[in-house]
Amino acid sequence: MKKILVTGGAGYIGSHALVSLIEQGFTPVIVDNLRNSDIKVVDRIAQITGVRPEAHIADIRDERALRQLFADYQFDAVIHFAGLKAVGESVAQPQRYYHNNVGGSLSLFSVMAEHDCYRLVFSSSATVYGVPESVPINETAPLCATNPYGHSKLMIEQVLHDLAEADSRWQISLLRYFNPISAHSSGLIGEDPDGVPNNLMPYISQVGIGRLKQLSVYGDDYDTPDGTGVRDYIHVVDLASAHSKALLALDVDHGCQAYNIGTGRGYSVLEMVQAFERASGQVINYQVRARRPGDIATCYADTRKSAEQLAWRAEFDLDAMMRDLWRWQSNNPSGYK
Ligand code: NAD
Ligand code: UFG
Repeated sequence: MKKILVTGGAGYIGSHALVSLIEQGFTPVIVDNLRNSDIKVVDRIAQITGVRPEAHIADIRDERALRQLFADYQFDAVIHFAGLKAVGESVAQPQRYYHNNVGGSLSLFSVMAEHDCYRLVFSSSATVYGVPESVPINETAPLCATNPYGHSKLMIEQVLHDLAEADSRWQISLLRYFNPISAHSSGLIGEDPDGVPNNLMPYISQVGIGRLKQLSVYGDDYDTPDGTGVRDYIHVVDLASAHSKALLALDVDHGCQAYNIGTGRGYSVLEMVQAFERASGQVINYQVRARRPGDIATCYADTRKSAEQLAWRAEFDLDAMMRDLWRWQSNNPSGYK
């Protein structure tokens, strides 16, 4: 299994997965509409790996364009990252989210089947666990979504379970990511959010570089050790390496399997601020504000299934995550622009 179509391969996680796939001897081909990414990323991937991946600018809802790609390349498998991911935006524009994420996925799966390509690794999210009844969360926990983005992930997971049930040729991994952060150690690729970041670490790093003035800490009255929210932050390079492991596991795994991709350990918002300050030498100005609607207190993964069945585990610790994040942010104060 060599030739891999990577939808959304120019994005934050996709670009790191490209590096990992090339290093593992795969031939990844990008399809991305560049809605939330920059084509410069292809040059950066080439600088890191010495291999320039082929990249096609197209929307996955364009079935004609997808058919052409499948005819040209005869892919062995697909890694499907393409999607919109901003929770707040999905509440304001649900139709756009369903159309892009669910509609795009349905187009992709049809074209895959037309071309006898039944191997798929899909980017799901810990958001499908909704408000967890207990932590660590394992893959059999009840599923529930609280916003259109989360519903779109749940719907796609359901479609994939049903496809695998109906046709035993499908071999599918659903990777449920916890909180990806940081950047490749080269400082050449990283997260470059459009506008003001929604997520904690890009916000903190933009305060660190002086683009933003102050971090709002959303709530210090949660039932957690210091009162601030606890999450399972994972180095994006660790997350990326889970994709080649998942591709290899498809050789033996039939049907549709879900895997948690996290470290199994949670850190609070204030612990993240302190760790960033240690790594960067910058002081992060913050103020505690009201809780953010929809947030939960604590979320971290039970990682036993991915360790046992994918032979994968996260390796980078918090200090490494902060060091690499700061290298990316300080080398690229305005991201790719
Ligand atoms: P990203 O926005 O950086 O990457 C997504 C890429 O998909 C972008 O390059 C975008 O231009 C492209 N894209 C979007 N819609 C497309 C379409 N219709 N056709 C072609 N290309 C399209 O996001 P990311 O953080 O790299 O996330 C990748 C995947 O992982 C997404 O599916 C996201 O929902 C999922 N995920 C992300 C996180 C996170 O915190 N970053 C957490 C859990 C799951
Ligand atoms: N937080 C702040 N200030 C900020 C941003 C975040 O205090 O400016 C806090 C949040 O309240 C939360 C923690 O930092 O306690 C992490 O928040 P993020 O927004 O970085 O991440 P979430 O866990 O809320 O959500 C992320 C993705 C979702 C995904 C989920 C699970 O944004 O799409 O992880 O994978 F569903």
